[in-house]
Amino acid sequence: VTTCLIMAGGKGERFWPKSRTHLPKQFLNISGNKSMIQQCIARLQKFIPIDQIFVITNELYAEIIKVQVPTLPQDNIIIETIGRNTAPCVGLASLIIEGKFPDSNMIVLPSDHIIKNENEFLTILKTAVEVSGLGDYLVTLGISPTYPETGYGYIESSYESLEINELLVHKVNKFVEKPDAETAEMYLESGNYYWNSGIFVWKTSVIRNYIKLLMPEMHQLLEEMKTLFKVSDRNEVIKSEFHKMPDQSIDYGIMEKAKDIYVIPCVFGWDDVGSWTALERINNLDESGNVIKGNTICIDTKRCIIESNGKLIATLGVEDLIIVETDDVTLICKKEKAQDIKALIKELKVQK
Ligand code: GDD
Ligand code: MG
Repeated sequence: VTTCLIMAGGKGERFWPKSRTHLPKQFLNISGNKSMIQQCIARLQKFIPIDQIFVITNELYAEIIKVQVPTLPQDNIIIETIGRNTAPCVGLASLIIEGKFPDSNMIVLPSDHIIKNENEFLTILKTAVEVSGLGDYLVTLGISPTYPETGYGYIESSYESLEINELLVHKVNKFVEKPDAETAEMYLESGNYYWNSGIFVWKTSVIRNYIKLLMPEMHQLLEEMKTLFKVSDRNEVIKSEFHKMPDQSIDYGIMEKAKDIYVIPCVFGWDDVGSWTALERINNLDESGNVIKGNTICIDTKRCIIESNGKLIATLGVEDLIIVETDDVTLICKKEKAQDIKALIKELKVQK
């Protein structure tokens, strides 16, 4: 059986002010005419029945998911009481999924990525599932890097490879999460590194064993929860236990230390829509290099990202800006500062 875990607990802060704490980007319509999570689930349903698709998120977002994806069984929404990053998130979910579908091949993926070529994506995903069934492997989907991004994980492929469904699947030498700029530059130049897409495939038993080996304290907590699940309500157990989890990402906690990782090179048009400048990659630019949406008049405006939610935005003689207008906020930001919008949010006392 193949199961799937969609991680949907992120706040999408670098997409502020369109993405808000009460309605972050995974629930917004960034491209196409459905929200990102709706698109994500629709895409997966071509491969996996809805009752084998699980979503992990917090209480507030669970309510949004029930409205946006009414066909998802409510029991498949796993509710965290506190955000502890992706390692506990994957740990808890693999425990719950294992209880329902013993030893399934589990796909883990974010709710908020853009995938342009759906057929290619599904072909690769099916291959990844196949590889995950061949041994105790952690399978990653790698993207060829185009610039030295420091916000991603990097996967160094080796010369050892398998050929499955006419696809080359490389054994991984090492996984490095978020290298510094100099290292990222070096990886980019070397040519045998991929970006980690954040999409993983493994058997639940395999990831549970890696957790036991590499994050023993978390494993211990999970074992205690497993015992409690037998006698108590799932949500009550999570409420009383989950806050004890370490705050750690799966990338640092497991991937950087694990052996037996494989990477499948992917060319399905991937974007994690990390910040406003992603819009330049996923939309067609106008002749002056702008991406402009909504009610606007722009003259002599170059390489800007402008989005109005109703009020007229008028620009004249400006370059390389992000201008976003929502009901209660107007953001004006140099494009080169797009990654630092988080700093603005830190200063906000209310209305994140
Ligand atoms: N449920 C839940 N709980 N989801 C979470 C939590 C949590 O505590 N923390 C993060 N997520 C979700 C986010 O919403 C996102 O969809 C996904 O998990 C990954 O988390 P990010 O916080 O966006 O990770 P990142 O961007 O720093 O890095 C990861 O993704 C990159 C590609 O986009 C890493 O896997 C990198 O290696 C990778 O390159
Ligand atoms: Mg991210």
